[in-house]
Amino acid sequence: MTTVPELERVLFTKQQIAARIKEVAAEISDRYAGKDLKLVGVLKGSVFFLTALAREITIPVKIDFLSLSSFTNMARSPGYVRIAKDLDEGIEGEDVLIVEDIVDTGLTLRYLLQTLAGRGPNSIGIVTLLDRTERRLAQVPVEYRCFEIPDRFVVGFGLDYKQHYRNLEYIAVMKPEK
Ligand code: IMP
Repeated sequence: MTTVPELERVLFTKQQIAARIKEVAAEISDRYAGKDLKLVGVLKGSVFFLTALAREITIPVKIDFLSLSSFTNMARSPGYVRIAKDLDEGIEGEDVLIVEDIVDTGLTLRYLLQTLAGRGPNSIGIVTLLDRTERRLAQVPVEYRCFEIPDRFVVGFGLDYKQHYRNLEYIAVMKPEK
């Protein structure tokens, strides 16, 4: 495993992440059997999670991506959100599962749920790699979560700090800024 001086400790190893994703993928495969499932990934953080999850899901899935702007290179500053890159295709009549890297305040997801709900999907659900419920400001229905985490800034497996660390195969807590 690569050692990175800016990191305090590993929270979840590659093996723990893989095992948990397999469990959640099994639940999703069960729940959506016979449905028209589309995974909607929120760029860029969810890319690593979405591909790992999709590979473990045993029913047919479609995938699409969108990106939101709300965190212009700042570590954490919830607030204004807008769609920077929209989905390539419509979602009417489909069973949409939004794939997130982390649900923190929930403000991003609240906006996304409202926006996508207006496009006539059959259903919309949420699956997230990490959930930090302690900091929640907007109540959003998170159906599937891999891990609940404490109130610390984390990186790896898609999550970044100023666009770095996304490619770490584990999830780690950053050292506090001095
Ligand atoms: P929310 O609107 O506060 O729920 O923000 C969720 C978004 O904030 C995530 O999709 C991440 O891009 C970003 N974010 C929140 N916490 C962290 C963290 O600990 N590490 C990296 N990104 C984070």
